[in-house]
Amino acid sequence: MDKIIIEGGKTRLSGTVTIEGAKNAVLPLLAATILPTEGTTTLTNVPILSDVFTMNNVVRGLDVAVDFQESTNTIVVDAQGEILDEAPYEYVSQMRASIVVLGPILARNGHAKVSMPGGCTIGSRPIDLHLKGLEAMGAKITQLGGDITASGQLHGARIYMDFPSVGATQNLMMAATLADGVTVLENAAREPEIVDLAILLTKMGAKIKGAGTEVLTITGVDKLHGAEHQVVQDRIEAGTFMVAAAMTSGDVLIKDAIWEHNRPLLAKLIEMGVEAREEAEGIRIKSDLSTLKPVTVKTLPHPGFPTDMQAQFTALMAAVNGESTMIETVFENRFQHLEEMRRMGLHSEILRDTALIHGGNPLQGAPVMSTDLRASAALILTGLISEGKTVVGKLTHLDRGYYRFHEKLAQLGANIQRISED
Ligand code: EPU
Repeated sequence: MDKIIIEGGKTRLSGTVTIEGAKNAVLPLLAATILPTEGTTTLTNVPILSDVFTMNNVVRGLDVAVDFQESTNTIVVDAQGEILDEAPYEYVSQMRASIVVLGPILARNGHAKVSMPGGCTIGSRPIDLHLKGLEAMGAKITQLGGDITASGQLHGARIYMDFPSVGATQNLMMAATLADGVTVLENAAREPEIVDLAILLTKMGAKIKGAGTEVLTITGVDKLHGAEHQVVQDRIEAGTFMVAAAMTSGDVLIKDAIWEHNRPLLAKLIEMGVEAREEAEGIRIKSDLSTLKPVTVKTLPHPGFPTDMQAQFTALMAAVNGESTMIETVFENRFQHLEEMRRMGLHSEILRDTALIHGGNPLQGAPVMSTDLRASAALILTGLISEGKTVVGKLTHLDRGYYRFHEKLAQLGANIQRISED
């Protein structure tokens, strides 16, 4: 089992860091590659992450050829010919995001069987909105023995989503590309990853209007063809390095970071007193920790503050003098990192969806365990500002979404290493 060891306390990050393609964009993009019946689809700027390998296996399990050339960060998918209806439990159970193959398989084959995603540490994460939407489009859905079976020729529908779910929006948008007639998705998710998916689907021949707004209109077409697409940059990886720079009084250029995708985070950093500047090559973050002020942050669907930056931002709150407040409204159980950070000396109180962080107290390194992907990044960042040695375990979470995180931090001046212990 690998561990990351950080000697913290005096770290001041400086230099330039490069960002990968977005995990949360590439997973639905891979699901979309099974839609075209003509030509191959090429994705470039693909991050080398364990979730990508899992999704490749989900797609391969449908009898689709997937060629991942890691040296060029390129995946070529050939879904021409017959594809299978069933996404096997073996891979689906490893990653909740694989549920987004349900819509594309159903739209293409008129029948789909996908394992029900299992439990999750950050919240209950039901998929009712995915299923209700598909039912409104004419699918007959049954749930039996841990599997979801959907069948029927899909037709257009007007669907209001009770909550702008990212995954449900992606599933329904893909299903609607091949449905008969017009589908209108109201209260749709607006994340940059939704826009990226709409761009690929449009290149494949789909007719989609309104991506990035709360109303998506999709006019079904008879068939789709292969296309080439560059995966959008990972705003959460970029944001993680912004926070790392801010909390270590650093000066870091985050190359190719996109201001508009990180607006809610940048607004909070600036409110704290961090200097954030758009430069030709990316976004520069410069900070003097001793001058930063505490803030209140509330997570919301995009364009609100992203829940995927909540854990990392609480690490910054822990570093800043004074009392900060974090309100998590998207997931019910996403404060577990705070319990681990308590082992490092953090003073915090949690009441339902609100965490009060008493920042600025000296923190000490300790052995800690990551409980989910973003928590693992948050614990590593906390290690940077804690005196002495922090050892972060359970790195399988980190590897799902961060490529060579320790190497990137080391290049910026952190005293950090990864060791293998069998
Ligand atoms: N929800 C429902 N019913 C549904 C779907 C969602 O009640 O049918 C609820 C969930 O329980 C949750 C909220 O809606 O409370 C948000 O869920 P959403 O469906 O928007 O999230 P997701 O599609 O499952 C994606 C990201 C997550 C990210 C969320 C929110 C991917 C692969 N995953 O998940 O990323 O936190 O959107 O932005 O895109 C991560 O990268 O660390 C991560 C967890």
